[in-house]
Formats: sequence, structure tokens, C-alpha cells
Amino acid sequence: MENRPQWGTRAGFILAAVGSAIGLGNIWRFPGVAYENGGGSFFIPYLFALLTAGIPLLVMEFTLGHKYRGSAPLTYARLNKKFEWLGWWQVGIAFVISTYYSVIIAWAISYSGFSLNLSWGKDTQTFLFSDYLQAAAPGEFGGFAPGVLLPLLIVWLVTLGVLFAGVKKGIELANKIFIPTLVFLFLIIVIRALTLEGAAQGLEAFFKPNWDMIFNGKVWIAAYGQIFFSLSIAFAIMVTYSSYLPKKSDITNNAFITGFGNSAFELLAGIGVFSALGFMAMQQGVPVNEVVTKGIGLAFIVFPQIINEFPAFNGLFGFLFFASLTLAGLTSLISIVETFVAGVQDKFKVSRTKAVFIGGGISAIISLLFATRGGINFLDVADEFINSFGVTLAGFVEVIVVIWILRQATDLQKHANQISDIQLGAWWKVCLGVITPIVLGYMMIDKLRAEPY
Ligand code: PHE
Repeated sequence: MENRPQWGTRAGFILAAVGSAIGLGNIWRFPGVAYENGGGSFFIPYLFALLTAGIPLLVMEFTLGHKYRGSAPLTYARLNKKFEWLGWWQVGIAFVISTYYSVIIAWAISYSGFSLNLSWGKDTQTFLFSDYLQAAAPGEFGGFAPGVLLPLLIVWLVTLGVLFAGVKKGIELANKIFIPTLVFLFLIIVIRALTLEGAAQGLEAFFKPNWDMIFNGKVWIAAYGQIFFSLSIAFAIMVTYSSYLPKKSDITNNAFITGFGNSAFELLAGIGVFSALGFMAMQQGVPVNEVVTKGIGLAFIVFPQIINEFPAFNGLFGFLFFASLTLAGLTSLISIVETFVAGVQDKFKVSRTKAVFIGGGISAIISLLFATRGGINFLDVADEFINSFGVTLAGFVEVIVVIWILRQATDLQKHANQISDIQLGAWWKVCLGVITPIVLGYMMIDKLRAEPY
């Protein structure tokens, strides 16, 4: 489209892409997944997945967006009219994710407040369960989880406000502020965690390789699953973001920076989380493996416990942790909502304002469902949906359609090479056309994909 908005700077685009990639998955998913799948030895399959699937697919999505200059549905439609549905399918997945991702960020905001005076008390599990997770009697409406509506309103106001403001003045500006702030806050937490008593034992548990696991297929699948989810690949997001790139943009380099930047943060999170877990294990006099958790349990049960035990400035560190979670989540949510806003805008030729209002508004209303007491049960349903129809299958179909059915590899390679420093060679085609579909196909057939968080 001729008057498509554009990123103001290269750094702006990279920060937005990294902002989408760095999310809850980096902080609460990666450390546990790495630990369960071999600790130190997990880094081999993980790096393999990053280099053979993560970055090559990121290059492909960046090139598609840059070349066809459209949201995912429009990009696939321009590639071939018959494949517009692929874009809508990915947009649909993003839409579903946005409805609950927003609620988790709202919880993180509530918990930033709770941490100031440790109002979750000693028994953080009961606290979470009684207020947030306890279901109403079947068929009854148990009301909203206390204190969640206002934060949820804030989440949506910020997200939609940023999107109203547009690509450069909204998304780019927000990421330019949020991402450096996030990295700064997170570094403080990690340094503090590293200097806690017991941190060394935590890190030892995290990095200790379990070489026997390296030949286990599940471990490789977990590595691919983590890379896909973490890099926001096959969610229509990266195609949309790269459709706002100026004509002269180094696509391949940007993809490498995004891929490595995301993994660097992931590693940092692993170090921080396991140092803190080591500290907690020492306080309780149990081995580290007894306190390892991930997902909601890690963030909202175990971390509050760890913060209770902090030697000093508990409230401050609690606040820093939950503020980091909030920022990491918000920059991802912005990218998720932008994909369907852009899709609606391109398809129905409506203004950005209208598209944000309608697309974001509907998602915000649905998100109320997850904000009820026991809304967590719907979260399971949504997760199930994402697992079965989500990222793995969408990624697989994307590669098959683009590389095998439409035979785009050579054209895309030429397009990227003309404007990029790093030249794509045969390796890129082999990764995309052979290695990735084989692994993804295997993942789906075995239905072994690790749970999303
Ligand atoms: N990549 C983000 C994370 O690691 C999550 C995400 C998933 C973002 C889907 C966008 C779309 O948490």
C-alpha cells in the first residue's frame, strides 16, 4: 500500500521485534523448560533449533512482510489469492492469545502493588487460589477476581492507546521506552539474585548437563517449541511488523539481531530465576529440584515466596520483578493486537482508529471472561486451542505453502540478499525446506509439543 506507515529508525523496528519476542515465555517458561530437558545439555538442541528454524523462519517472515507490504492476510493474498486464509488463521491464533495474555499482565500489575507491602502473606498459594483461581460453583458467576479489573483496564488503555498513536509514534516509541527499561530493571534483579545465598546451587542445577537426554526426541521438540513461541513465529506478527520497514532495510541482519537478542534475554532470565530458586531451596533446606516450577505457579506462587524471604528491600524487589513481567508482557501484547488491527485495516480499508477500536475492543471484552474468579479454567481451554491448532501446525503449513507449494525460496532469497549484508545461501533453503518441515511434522504427528508455558 502506497501510504503504509513506516518505522522511523532501524533501532525502532528491532526493538519492536525484540519486544514482541521477549515476553512471559522468556521469563517464566524458558528456565523451567531448559531445566526439565537436560539443563546445560539443552543448549545444544536449543541452539540448533535457533539456527536451523528460528532465525531462518524469521528471515522468511521479515522478507515476506518487506516484499509484499501487508499484514499477514494481505501478504499471503498478494503471494497467491488462494492463501489469504493462512494469514487469517494466524491472526485468529494471535487474537485468542490476546484475550488471556492481557489478563496475565493485569495480574502482574496487581502483584506489583501487592509486593509493596507483601500483602500476599505467608501462604502465597492459598492467596492465589482463593482470590484468583477459585472457581464459582458450576454454572454460577463468581464475580471478578478482586483487584483485577482496574489493572486490566490499564492494560487495555495502554495497549490500545499505543496502537491508536500509530506505528512510529505509538508502537516504536513505546518499545523504545519499555524495552531498555525492562532490560535495566531485569539486570538489577538478576545481579541481586546472583548475590543471594544459595544462588550457586541454583545455577549448578540449571547448568548441569544431562547428556543422556541429548538423544531424546522430546528434548529436541521442546527446543523447537520454545524457539517458535519465544520468537513469536507463525503468529502473523513478524510479517506485520516487517511490512512497515522502509525499502532499504537490512533484513537478514535484523533477523539475527532479533533472534540472538531474544535468546540472550532468555538466558539472563534463566540465570536470574535459578539463582532465586537456589536461594529459596537453601532457605527451606531442600534440594533445588524440589522448588523448580514454571508458568503461573512460578510467577504468582513461588516468586512471592522468594520475595518474602529476601534479606532486605523485599517490597522493592517484588515490585521490580512484577514490573518487569508487566513490561515484557505489554510489548508482546501490543504486537499481538497489532496483527489483527493491521489485518482488519488492510482487508476492510478502514482507518487505524476504527480497526483498533473494533479489533482491540472485542478482545478486551472477551478478556473479561478470564478475569472472573476461576477464569483460569477458560485459560486451559484457550491453551488447549493454541496447542492443537496453534503455532506448530501454523508454522508447518506456512513453510509448506511458501516454500513447497508456491516455491518462493529463490525469489525471497534474492529479495533479501539485494538489501542485506549477510547473504542467504543454500543453507537457508535447506533449513527452511527440509529440516524445519521434518521436525515440525514430527512434532505434530507425535503430539508431543510441550505445554505453552
Ligand atoms: N514471544 C512471546 C513470549 O515469549 C509470546 C508471544 C506469543 C508473543 C505469541 C506474541 C505472540 O512470551
